[in-house]
Amino acid sequence: MAEELLINNAQDKQSKYDSLIPQIEALVIGESDLIANLANISAALKEGMGFFWVGFYLVKNDELVLGPFQGTIACTRIKKGKGVCGKVWENKTPIIVKDVDEFPGHIACSNNAKSEIVLPVLKDGEVALMMDVDSDQLNDFNEVDRSSLQKVIDMIEKML
Ligand code: SME
Repeated sequence: MAEELLINNAQDKQSKYDSLIPQIEALVIGESDLIANLANISAALKEGMGFFWVGFYLVKNDELVLGPFQGTIACTRIKKGKGVCGKVWENKTPIIVKDVDEFPGHIACSNNAKSEIVLPVLKDGEVALMMDVDSDQLNDFNEVDRSSLQKVIDMIEKML
């Protein structure tokens, strides 16, 4: 496993993702512990992409429970259908929120979070956990983020 990440300081997100994703793959390959891998994935995405907040919520019984993350403290439990994460759980599909104030029921863990992307991780067709990324800038996520982060989601699905 690499001792430290090679950070690509390019301005465009796609090339940052392109250099980071193989490093994330190298980080998790050969490690079977899900929580350890989610912890390292959070740290790598925070450091490599400079995200404001990045982490995971895990489905536990009838709630989402906060998992490994990097950033400011966050709400620990979210009900199905509540907030962006609860909607992703319900709909089993990613959501990009350009302006959190415009999303009905958005759960504000930090007043500084302005836009957000959430992607589900599926096991046997059901949501097992999800990745949540928050930005302190409006309209900060697009198709480049969705398709690149999906590659990380695909890696996590193989661990389940
Ligand atoms: N904003 C999320 C809650 C999680 S925090 O952003 C870390 C939501 O509305 O589901």
